[in-house]
Amino acid sequence: MKDKPQRIETLAVHAGRPVDPATGAVAPPIHLSTTFERDPDGSYPRGHLYARNSNPTREALEACLAALERGVAAAAFASGSAATAAVFQALAPGDHVVAPHDAYHGTGRLLRETFARWKLDTTFVDMTDPGEVERALRPATRVVWVETPSNPMWKIADIRALADLAHGAGARCVCDNTVATPVGQSPFELGADLIVHATTKYLGGHSDLMGGAVITRADEEMFQRVRAVQASGGGIPSPFDCWLVLRGIQTLPWRMRAHAENALKVARFLADHRRVEAVHYPGLPGHPAHALATRQMRAFSGMLSFQVRGNAADALGVAAKVRVFTRATSFGGTDSLIEHRASVEGPGTRTPENLLRVSVGLEHADDLIADLEEALS
Ligand SMILES: Cc1ncc(COP(=O)(O)O)c(C=O)c1O
Repeated sequence: MKDKPQRIETLAVHAGRPVDPATGAVAPPIHLSTTFERDPDGSYPRGHLYARNSNPTREALEACLAALERGVAAAAFASGSAATAAVFQALAPGDHVVAPHDAYHGTGRLLRETFARWKLDTTFVDMTDPGEVERALRPATRVVWVETPSNPMWKIADIRALADLAHGAGARCVCDNTVATPVGQSPFELGADLIVHATTKYLGGHSDLMGGAVITRADEEMFQRVRAVQASGGGIPSPFDCWLVLRGIQTLPWRMRAHAENALKVARFLADHRRVEAVHYPGLPGHPAHALATRQMRAFSGMLSFQVRGNAADALGVAAKVRVFTRATSFGGTDSLIEHRASVEGPGTRTPENLLRVSVGLEHADDLIADLEEALS
Protein backbone atom coordinates (compact mmCIF):
# COMPACT_ATOMS: atom_id res chain seq x y z
CA MET A 1 0.00 0.00 0.00
CA LYS A 2 2.79 2.41 0.89
CA ASP A 3 4.61 1.80 -2.41
CA LYS A 4 1.62 2.48 -4.65
CA PRO A 5 -0.91 4.68 -2.91
CA GLN A 6 -3.67 5.61 -5.33
CA ARG A 7 -6.12 7.87 -3.56
CA ILE A 8 -5.35 11.51 -3.02
CA GLU A 9 -5.56 11.36 0.80
CA THR A 10 -2.89 8.65 0.79
CA LEU A 11 -0.73 10.41 -1.78
CA ALA A 12 -0.97 13.65 0.19
CA VAL A 13 0.46 11.93 3.27
CA HIS A 14 3.09 9.71 1.64
CA ALA A 15 4.16 10.98 -1.81
CA GLY A 16 7.69 12.39 -1.61
CA ARG A 17 7.82 11.58 2.09
CA PRO A 18 9.45 8.16 2.56
CA VAL A 19 10.81 7.36 6.00
CA ASP A 20 14.33 8.85 6.03
CA PRO A 21 16.62 5.88 5.27
CA ALA A 22 19.54 7.42 7.18
CA THR A 23 17.76 7.96 10.52
CA GLY A 24 14.29 6.42 10.38
CA ALA A 25 12.75 9.88 10.81
CA VAL A 26 9.08 9.88 9.81
CA ALA A 27 9.01 13.63 9.15
CA PRO A 28 11.40 14.42 6.29
CA PRO A 29 14.64 16.29 7.02
CA ILE A 30 15.26 19.80 5.64
CA HIS A 31 18.44 19.77 3.58
CA LEU A 32 20.10 23.17 3.75
CA SER A 33 23.31 22.28 1.93
CA THR A 34 23.91 24.36 -1.19
CA THR A 35 26.56 22.00 -2.54
CA PHE A 36 27.09 18.25 -2.73
CA GLU A 37 30.15 16.00 -2.68
CA ARG A 38 31.55 14.45 -5.85
CA ASP A 39 32.93 10.90 -5.94
CA PRO A 40 36.68 10.45 -6.54
CA ASP A 41 35.99 9.99 -10.23
CA GLY A 42 34.22 13.37 -10.35
CA SER A 43 30.72 11.98 -10.71
CA TYR A 44 27.61 12.77 -8.62
CA PRO A 45 26.09 9.32 -8.01
CA ARG A 46 23.77 10.71 -5.31
CA GLY A 47 22.15 12.94 -7.92
CA HIS A 48 22.79 16.41 -6.51
CA LEU A 49 25.44 18.90 -7.53
CA TYR A 50 24.39 22.42 -6.52
CA ALA A 51 21.15 23.50 -4.86
CA ARG A 52 20.01 25.82 -7.66
CA ASN A 53 19.85 22.72 -9.89
CA SER A 54 18.41 20.34 -7.31
CA ASN A 55 18.13 19.81 -3.60
CA PRO A 56 16.73 16.74 -1.81
CA THR A 57 13.95 18.69 -0.04
CA ARG A 58 12.82 20.36 -3.26
CA GLU A 59 13.05 17.03 -5.05
CA ALA A 60 10.73 15.51 -2.42
CA LEU A 61 8.21 18.31 -2.94
CA GLU A 62 8.41 17.94 -6.73
CA ALA A 63 7.80 14.18 -6.46
CA CYS A 64 4.79 14.86 -4.24
CA LEU A 65 3.32 17.50 -6.59
CA ALA A 66 3.77 15.26 -9.64
CA ALA A 67 2.04 12.40 -7.80
CA LEU A 68 -0.89 14.58 -6.65
CA GLU A 69 -1.60 15.80 -10.19
CA ARG A 70 -0.78 12.36 -11.67
CA GLY A 71 1.92 13.88 -13.85
CA VAL A 72 5.45 12.64 -14.47
CA ALA A 73 7.53 15.52 -13.06
CA ALA A 74 7.30 18.92 -11.40
CA ALA A 75 9.53 21.97 -11.09
CA ALA A 76 9.11 24.04 -7.93
CA PHE A 77 9.55 27.81 -7.92
CA ALA A 78 9.77 30.62 -5.37
CA SER A 79 6.22 31.84 -6.09
CA GLY A 80 3.26 31.08 -8.30
CA SER A 81 4.24 34.04 -10.46
CA ALA A 82 7.78 32.67 -10.89
CA ALA A 83 6.25 29.36 -12.05
CA THR A 84 3.95 31.23 -14.46
CA ALA A 85 6.85 33.30 -15.80
CA ALA A 86 8.92 30.14 -16.33
CA VAL A 87 6.24 28.80 -18.68
CA PHE A 88 6.36 32.01 -20.73
CA GLN A 89 10.17 32.05 -20.61
CA ALA A 90 10.05 28.60 -22.18
CA LEU A 91 8.54 30.22 -25.29
CA ALA A 92 10.37 32.15 -28.01
CA PRO A 93 9.97 35.68 -29.44
CA GLY A 94 7.14 35.69 -31.98
CA ASP A 95 5.24 32.91 -30.20
CA HIS A 96 1.59 33.57 -29.46
CA VAL A 97 -0.39 32.91 -26.27
CA VAL A 98 -4.16 32.83 -25.82
CA ALA A 99 -5.07 33.80 -22.26
CA PRO A 100 -8.27 34.70 -20.42
CA HIS A 101 -9.27 38.30 -19.66
CA ASP A 102 -9.84 37.11 -16.13
CA ALA A 103 -6.58 35.25 -15.48
CA TYR A 104 -5.07 36.12 -12.11
CA HIS A 105 -4.28 39.82 -12.61
CA GLY A 106 -0.56 39.21 -12.02
CA THR A 107 -0.53 36.70 -14.89
CA GLY A 108 -2.18 39.23 -17.21
CA ARG A 109 0.29 41.86 -16.10
CA LEU A 110 3.26 39.55 -16.76
CA LEU A 111 2.01 38.98 -20.30
CA ARG A 112 1.17 42.64 -20.97
CA GLU A 113 4.11 44.32 -19.29
CA THR A 114 7.02 41.87 -19.22
CA PHE A 115 6.58 39.33 -21.96
CA ALA A 116 5.14 41.72 -24.56
CA ARG A 117 8.58 43.39 -24.49
CA TRP A 118 10.11 39.98 -25.22
CA LYS A 119 7.89 39.83 -28.32
CA LEU A 120 5.52 37.26 -26.89
CA ASP A 121 2.17 38.12 -28.36
CA THR A 122 -1.00 37.51 -26.33
CA THR A 123 -4.66 37.56 -27.30
CA PHE A 124 -6.94 37.93 -24.28
CA VAL A 125 -10.30 36.22 -24.67
CA ASP A 126 -13.36 35.08 -22.77
CA MET A 127 -12.27 31.51 -21.99
CA THR A 128 -15.81 30.47 -21.21
CA ASP A 129 -16.49 30.81 -24.96
CA PRO A 130 -14.53 28.13 -26.88
CA GLY A 131 -15.59 29.81 -30.15
CA GLU A 132 -13.73 32.96 -29.14
CA VAL A 133 -10.67 30.87 -28.26
CA GLU A 134 -10.83 29.09 -31.62
CA ARG A 135 -10.95 32.42 -33.48
CA ALA A 136 -7.90 33.64 -31.54
CA LEU A 137 -5.71 30.66 -32.51
CA ARG A 138 -2.93 31.27 -35.06
CA PRO A 139 -0.14 29.17 -36.56
CA ALA A 140 2.22 30.80 -34.01
CA THR A 141 0.02 29.92 -31.00
CA ARG A 142 2.05 27.84 -28.56
CA VAL A 143 0.01 28.09 -25.35
CA VAL A 144 -3.66 28.26 -24.44
CA TRP A 145 -3.61 29.41 -20.83
CA VAL A 146 -6.61 28.25 -18.82
CA GLU A 147 -7.51 29.31 -15.28
CA THR A 148 -10.69 27.82 -13.89
CA PRO A 149 -12.46 28.71 -11.65
CA SER A 150 -11.29 32.21 -12.61
CA ASN A 151 -10.55 35.04 -10.31
CA PRO A 152 -12.60 36.89 -8.96
CA MET A 153 -15.87 35.98 -10.74
CA TRP A 154 -15.24 32.22 -10.46
CA LYS A 155 -16.22 31.58 -14.06
CA ILE A 156 -15.74 28.05 -15.33
CA ALA A 157 -13.85 27.23 -18.52
CA ASP A 158 -14.23 23.85 -20.22
CA ILE A 159 -10.72 22.37 -19.90
CA ARG A 160 -11.38 19.44 -22.23
CA ALA A 161 -12.77 21.64 -25.03
CA LEU A 162 -9.91 24.12 -24.66
CA ALA A 163 -7.24 21.39 -24.59
CA ASP A 164 -8.72 19.90 -27.77
CA LEU A 165 -8.65 23.30 -29.46
CA ALA A 166 -5.05 23.91 -28.35
CA HIS A 167 -3.92 20.51 -29.62
CA GLY A 168 -5.72 21.02 -32.92
CA ALA A 169 -3.63 24.17 -33.40
CA GLY A 170 -0.37 22.47 -32.36
CA ALA A 171 -0.33 24.37 -29.04
CA ARG A 172 -0.07 23.32 -25.43
CA CYS A 173 -2.89 23.70 -22.91
CA VAL A 174 -1.54 25.06 -19.63
CA CYS A 175 -3.94 25.09 -16.69
CA ASP A 176 -3.50 27.17 -13.54
CA ASN A 177 -5.05 24.78 -11.00
CA THR A 178 -4.36 26.92 -7.93
CA VAL A 179 -7.99 27.55 -7.00
CA ALA A 180 -9.42 24.07 -7.55
CA THR A 181 -6.28 22.20 -6.33
CA PRO A 182 -5.66 18.57 -7.32
CA VAL A 183 -8.36 17.65 -4.83
CA GLY A 184 -11.05 19.49 -6.79
CA GLN A 185 -9.97 19.03 -10.38
CA SER A 186 -7.58 16.94 -12.50
CA PRO A 187 -6.63 18.98 -15.59
CA PHE A 188 -4.39 16.22 -16.98
CA GLU A 189 -7.37 13.86 -17.16
CA LEU A 190 -9.15 16.55 -19.18
CA GLY A 191 -6.28 16.95 -21.67
CA ALA A 192 -4.10 19.73 -20.21
CA ASP A 193 -0.36 19.38 -20.85
CA LEU A 194 1.10 21.46 -18.03
CA ILE A 195 -0.36 22.50 -14.68
CA VAL A 196 0.72 25.59 -12.77
CA HIS A 197 0.19 26.14 -9.05
CA ALA A 198 0.71 28.98 -6.65
CA THR A 199 1.58 26.72 -3.71
CA THR A 200 1.34 29.94 -1.69
CA LYS A 201 -2.39 29.23 -1.55
CA TYR A 202 -4.18 25.98 -0.67
CA LEU A 203 -1.21 23.62 -1.07
CA GLY A 204 0.81 25.47 1.55
CA GLY A 205 -2.50 26.16 3.20
CA HIS A 206 -1.50 28.34 6.14
CA SER A 207 -0.64 31.78 4.64
CA ASP A 208 2.97 31.40 5.74
CA LEU A 209 4.99 30.68 2.62
CA MET A 210 5.33 31.61 -1.02
CA GLY A 211 5.85 29.02 -3.71
CA GLY A 212 4.86 27.83 -7.13
CA ALA A 213 5.18 24.83 -9.38
CA VAL A 214 4.91 23.66 -12.96
CA ILE A 215 3.85 20.04 -13.36
CA THR A 216 3.98 18.09 -16.61
CA ARG A 217 1.85 15.26 -17.91
CA ALA A 218 4.65 13.90 -20.13
CA ASP A 219 8.39 14.20 -20.35
CA GLU A 220 8.33 16.76 -23.15
CA GLU A 221 10.51 19.51 -24.53
CA MET A 222 8.47 22.39 -23.17
CA PHE A 223 8.84 21.07 -19.63
CA GLN A 224 12.58 20.57 -20.19
CA ARG A 225 12.75 24.27 -21.04
CA VAL A 226 10.85 25.13 -17.84
CA ARG A 227 13.39 23.01 -15.94
CA ALA A 228 16.23 24.88 -17.62
CA VAL A 229 14.66 28.22 -16.59
CA GLN A 230 14.41 26.89 -13.02
CA ALA A 231 18.09 25.86 -12.90
CA SER A 232 19.63 28.77 -14.78
CA GLY A 233 17.17 31.51 -13.77
CA GLY A 234 17.32 30.37 -10.16
CA GLY A 235 13.79 31.38 -9.07
CA ILE A 236 13.79 28.46 -6.66
CA PRO A 237 12.06 28.04 -3.29
CA SER A 238 14.14 27.67 -0.13
CA PRO A 239 14.40 24.18 1.40
CA PHE A 240 12.33 25.38 4.36
CA ASP A 241 9.55 26.66 2.11
CA CYS A 242 9.60 23.34 0.21
CA TRP A 243 9.26 21.54 3.51
CA LEU A 244 6.36 23.78 4.57
CA VAL A 245 4.49 23.01 1.33
CA LEU A 246 5.10 19.29 1.82
CA ARG A 247 3.77 19.60 5.34
CA GLY A 248 0.73 21.58 4.21
CA ILE A 249 -0.11 19.05 1.51
CA GLN A 250 -0.49 16.27 4.09
CA THR A 251 -3.83 17.72 5.16
CA LEU A 252 -4.85 19.21 1.79
CA PRO A 253 -7.68 16.76 0.94
CA TRP A 254 -9.30 17.23 4.35
CA ARG A 255 -8.84 20.97 4.37
CA MET A 256 -10.34 21.30 0.88
CA ARG A 257 -13.41 19.37 1.95
CA ALA A 258 -13.92 21.75 4.87
CA HIS A 259 -13.19 24.87 2.78
CA ALA A 260 -15.79 23.79 0.20
CA GLU A 261 -18.38 22.83 2.82
CA ASN A 262 -17.98 26.20 4.60
CA ALA A 263 -17.99 28.12 1.31
CA LEU A 264 -21.27 26.57 0.21
CA LYS A 265 -22.90 27.50 3.53
CA VAL A 266 -21.61 31.07 3.31
CA ALA A 267 -22.67 31.33 -0.37
CA ARG A 268 -26.19 30.13 0.44
CA PHE A 269 -26.48 32.64 3.26
CA LEU A 270 -25.30 35.50 1.03
CA ALA A 271 -27.57 34.47 -1.85
CA ASP A 272 -30.60 34.97 0.42
CA HIS A 273 -29.51 38.32 1.85
CA ARG A 274 -31.43 41.42 0.76
CA ARG A 275 -28.29 43.61 0.66
CA VAL A 276 -26.51 41.20 -1.68
CA GLU A 277 -26.96 41.79 -5.41
CA ALA A 278 -25.15 38.66 -6.64
CA VAL A 279 -23.08 35.75 -5.34
CA HIS A 280 -20.44 34.07 -7.50
CA TYR A 281 -19.68 30.51 -6.42
CA PRO A 282 -19.60 27.54 -8.83
CA GLY A 283 -21.10 25.26 -6.19
CA LEU A 284 -24.40 27.16 -6.21
CA PRO A 285 -26.96 25.63 -8.60
CA GLY A 286 -27.71 29.17 -9.85
CA HIS A 287 -24.11 29.67 -11.08
CA PRO A 288 -24.27 29.98 -14.91
CA ALA A 289 -21.78 27.11 -15.38
CA HIS A 290 -22.79 24.93 -12.42
CA ALA A 291 -23.42 21.95 -14.72
CA LEU A 292 -19.95 22.20 -16.32
CA ALA A 293 -18.37 22.74 -12.90
CA THR A 294 -20.10 19.61 -11.62
CA ARG A 295 -18.80 17.64 -14.62
CA GLN A 296 -15.16 18.67 -14.38
CA MET A 297 -14.72 19.35 -10.66
CA ARG A 298 -14.97 17.05 -7.66
CA ALA A 299 -15.17 19.94 -5.19
CA PHE A 300 -15.83 23.66 -5.68
CA SER A 301 -13.05 25.08 -3.48
CA GLY A 302 -13.38 27.79 -0.86
CA MET A 303 -13.35 30.94 -3.00
CA LEU A 304 -16.42 33.07 -3.65
CA SER A 305 -17.31 36.68 -4.37
CA PHE A 306 -20.39 38.73 -3.72
CA GLN A 307 -21.66 42.07 -4.88
CA VAL A 308 -23.13 44.37 -2.28
CA ARG A 309 -26.11 46.41 -3.47
CA GLY A 310 -24.72 49.89 -4.16
CA ASN A 311 -21.24 51.07 -5.02
CA ALA A 312 -17.62 50.68 -3.94
CA ALA A 313 -18.25 52.62 -0.73
CA ASP A 314 -21.08 50.26 0.24
CA ALA A 315 -18.86 47.22 -0.36
CA LEU A 316 -15.95 48.77 1.53
CA GLY A 317 -18.38 49.60 4.34
CA VAL A 318 -19.27 45.92 4.71
CA ALA A 319 -15.61 44.86 4.66
CA ALA A 320 -14.86 47.50 7.30
CA LYS A 321 -17.23 45.86 9.79
CA VAL A 322 -16.08 42.21 9.80
CA ARG A 323 -14.49 40.81 12.94
CA VAL A 324 -13.87 37.12 12.25
CA PHE A 325 -12.82 37.63 8.61
CA THR A 326 -9.55 39.47 8.09
CA ARG A 327 -9.35 42.25 5.50
CA ALA A 328 -6.45 40.95 3.45
CA THR A 329 -5.60 39.72 0.00
CA SER A 330 -4.55 36.17 -0.97
CA PHE A 331 -6.39 32.94 -0.24
CA GLY A 332 -6.14 29.30 0.67
CA GLY A 333 -5.18 29.60 4.33
CA THR A 334 -7.00 28.58 7.48
CA ASP A 335 -8.14 32.15 8.21
CA SER A 336 -11.09 33.58 6.29
CA LEU A 337 -10.13 36.67 4.27
CA ILE A 338 -12.20 39.39 2.63
CA GLU A 339 -11.08 42.03 0.17
CA HIS A 340 -12.39 44.73 -2.11
CA ARG A 341 -10.95 43.20 -5.25
CA ALA A 342 -11.17 46.23 -7.58
CA SER A 343 -8.92 48.20 -5.20
CA VAL A 344 -6.37 45.39 -5.20
CA GLU A 345 -6.37 45.08 -9.00
CA GLY A 346 -6.15 48.85 -9.52
CA PRO A 347 -6.84 51.00 -12.58
CA GLY A 348 -8.20 49.17 -15.63
CA THR A 349 -9.77 46.36 -13.58
CA ARG A 350 -12.86 44.68 -15.01
CA THR A 351 -13.99 43.65 -11.51
CA PRO A 352 -17.29 45.27 -10.41
CA GLU A 353 -16.69 48.07 -7.92
CA ASN A 354 -19.20 46.64 -5.46
CA LEU A 355 -17.56 43.18 -5.34
CA LEU A 356 -15.98 41.63 -2.26
CA ARG A 357 -13.84 38.53 -2.71
CA VAL A 358 -13.87 36.01 0.10
CA SER A 359 -11.49 33.18 0.92
CA VAL A 360 -13.56 30.98 3.19
CA GLY A 361 -11.32 29.49 5.84
CA LEU A 362 -11.62 26.74 8.39
CA GLU A 363 -13.45 28.55 11.18
CA HIS A 364 -16.96 27.32 12.03
CA ALA A 365 -19.35 28.27 9.21
CA ASP A 366 -21.91 29.64 11.68
CA ASP A 367 -19.36 32.11 13.08
CA LEU A 368 -18.46 33.25 9.57
CA ILE A 369 -22.13 33.71 8.68
CA ALA A 370 -22.84 35.59 11.91
CA ASP A 371 -19.89 37.88 11.15
CA LEU A 372 -21.18 38.64 7.64
CA GLU A 373 -24.73 39.08 8.92
CA GLU A 374 -23.51 41.72 11.36
CA ALA A 375 -21.34 43.41 8.71
CA LEU A 376 -24.28 43.57 6.29
CA SER A 377 -26.72 44.86 8.89
C1 LIG B 1 -4.69 31.71 -9.58
C2 LIG B 1 -3.37 32.29 -9.21
N1 LIG B 1 -2.28 31.94 -9.89
C3 LIG B 1 -1.07 32.44 -9.59
C4 LIG B 1 -0.90 33.35 -8.58
C5 LIG B 1 0.46 33.90 -8.26
O1 LIG B 1 0.96 33.34 -7.09
P1 LIG B 1 2.04 34.06 -6.16
O2 LIG B 1 1.33 35.16 -5.45
O3 LIG B 1 2.55 32.96 -5.30
O4 LIG B 1 3.10 34.61 -7.07
C6 LIG B 1 -2.00 33.74 -7.82
C7 LIG B 1 -1.86 34.72 -6.71
O5 LIG B 1 -2.81 35.20 -6.14
C8 LIG B 1 -3.28 33.23 -8.16
O6 LIG B 1 -4.39 33.60 -7.50
